[in-house]
Amino acid sequence: MRVIISILLIGAAIGAAVFGMLGLQGSQMRKPPFELFPDMDRQAKLRPQEPFHFFTNGISSQLPPAGTVARSQPIETVSGEVYRFEDSPVNTGRIAGTTNYVETNPLVVNAALLERGRDRFDIYCAPCHGRLGDGNGITKKIGVMPAVANLHDQRIVEMTDGEIFNTVTHGKGLMGAVGPLLPTEDRWAVIAYVRALQLSWLGTTNDLTAGQSAALK
Ligand code: HEC
Repeated sequence: MRVIISILLIGAAIGAAVFGMLGLQGSQMRKPPFELFPDMDRQAKLRPQEPFHFFTNGISSQLPPAGTVARSQPIETVSGEVYRFEDSPVNTGRIAGTTNYVETNPLVVNAALLERGRDRFDIYCAPCHGRLGDGNGITKKIGVMPAVANLHDQRIVEMTDGEIFNTVTHGKGLMGAVGPLLPTEDRWAVIAYVRALQLSWLGTTNDLTAGQSAALK
């Protein structure tokens, strides 16, 4: 008798264990399962364009308050307005759909851009490259950045604007990325200013107009 009872008990235990593990697997329930840990399954939120009594217009979606400044304004380039998500030279430094760098600055280069470029260059580049761009910044003097590129090197003078944009944005070798610190327009402004610095070293008296060289003498 005892043997039969223990066999039955063991059988029931095995049956319960198997049912516990596999149980109602695959069957469909009408009620949601019991939640021991709800985690963040359900959160208080409003769905867009749904009726909602709290606001005076009676729906969940609200217009931004008057005077709100858009976080993403298009960038004004030589070929029109470009948004920041677009595959366009101003965002990538590359010709759209290719990996080739653009030759020239996609922004309109004028005195205001150069002035902005000088301002940003002196803050973000001069500590290493020096205010003249010759690679003799303070970091070299105090010995924390021994070999900084001289921006007047023939190689860098001949480099496309797009490649310099890529270097500034993502960094290269020992130079860290400046992209996270400088907005896109400022990076192009800095590049325009680097070109002006380079030109200031490359210029000869032949570049002067007749009037200018007459004034020199
Ligand atoms: C923290 C120091 C540091 C700062 C800041 C810095 N650079 Fe550099 N940069 C370097 C060093 C070091 C190199 C040489 C990298 C190498 O070849 O390993 C370099 C290289 C370059 C090159 C040449 C890249 C090449 O292809 O050889 C360019 C162009 C350049 N920097 C532009 C800039 C501009 C523009 C800024 C400012 C927006 C800037 N850098 C800010 C340290 C710096």
